[in-house]
Amino acid sequence: MKILVTGGIGFIGSHTVVELIENGHDVVIVDNLSNSSVKVLDDIQKIAKRRPVFYEADIRDKAAMERVFTENKIDAVIHFAGLKAVGESIQIPMEYYHNNITGTLVLCDVMRTHGCKTIVFSSSATVYGMNNVSPFKEDMPTSCTNPYGWTKLMLEQILTDIAHSDPEWSVVLLRYFNPIGAHPSGIIGENPSGIPNNLFPYLARVAAGILPCLSIYGNDYDTPDGTGVRDYIHVVDLAQGHLKALNYATEHKGAEAINLGTSRGTSVLELVKAFEKANGVKVKYKIVERRPGDIATCYADTAKATELLGWSAKYGIEDMCRHGWNYMNKK
Ligand code: NAD
Ligand code: WQD
Repeated sequence: MKILVTGGIGFIGSHTVVELIENGHDVVIVDNLSNSSVKVLDDIQKIAKRRPVFYEADIRDKAAMERVFTENKIDAVIHFAGLKAVGESIQIPMEYYHNNITGTLVLCDVMRTHGCKTIVFSSSATVYGMNNVSPFKEDMPTSCTNPYGWTKLMLEQILTDIAHSDPEWSVVLLRYFNPIGAHPSGIIGENPSGIPNNLFPYLARVAAGILPCLSIYGNDYDTPDGTGVRDYIHVVDLAQGHLKALNYATEHKGAEAINLGTSRGTSVLELVKAFEKANGVKVKYKIVERRPGDIATCYADTAKATELLGWSAKYGIEDMCRHGWNYMNKK
């Protein structure tokens, strides 16, 4: 199939593009490079031995999107393009709503015009909000606490409404838990610019001596060691989940929300220890105040992904730590 991957130069997108090419798909990428480097195209080619077609374009640019669909007979879309920093979304909400929501509306409009009605969308565990108890199941009530999260929740609603309005649409809303790690080759991985907000890239930079010390946000949560518990998932497992979701979407109409996680919670301290053990390094840390907006525990119930997609995560925490570190050291 010919698959359009929006945001395909980014962290999760690039790993998914590799899996798509390795599984015989033709890939067209649209990315405006707002949070990624065009050099990743060479890296994808190094691993997958084929270079995807690339358009440097913004998904909000309707004329550019028309050109992509006119020049390529796209069968389905995997839609990663979006802004994703929670804190920044509170500072500049208009940019987040415009980028993520307008962008998706323009994309869907052009898809409809060209008769392409299959989309796999990057949603997030953030839609489970503050009030549910883990493991999170897809039928639990959703809510959000920041503009980034709202864009995901609103887009889930918009895409579901589109699927309900026209029975030819297939929509799969993938709710990712905490993607970390890197491709085992060490050629692609996560490379946030500036000081990372997320735990894994931060702790890897502390281990590398780039940052002095990890601040652990609170050790008084109601968790086994008091630090926050999350469901870390290897980015390659996540990428493979997209291929399964694509297969599902091509065979089923309508809209489905599906968790992609491991069903396993790991605390901040456990992740630090696993990283040290896997890589033979030390991670200096100190305990500081809780970070506002954090919940104690967040992990997935993945029964629906297993049942509908025939997918489950294969990699463990130590693999995630090893591969993430390997990527950092090769860069
Ligand atoms: P990323 O920033 O590495 O990748 C997103 C890509 O989209 C970037 O290459 C960026 O340049 C591009 N982009 C952004 N806005 C665009 C636009 N208007 N037009 C064209 N390209 C645009 O992020 P990621 O971690 O790979 O995340 C991919 C998706 O998954 C995002 O939608 C994100 O919200 C979602 N998600 C990520 C996580 C996570 O922890 N990484 C968790 C849950 C959901
Ligand atoms: C993980 C744990 C922190 C940094 C975020 C988004 C979510 C999704 C994934 C996109 C928590 C602790 C962190 C640090 C720490 N993204 N921590 N020191 O908050 O679970 O999820 O990324 O959809 O929407 O909210 O991930 O990696 O920031 O934090 O102690 O320097 O690590 O308190 O317990 P989070 P995270």
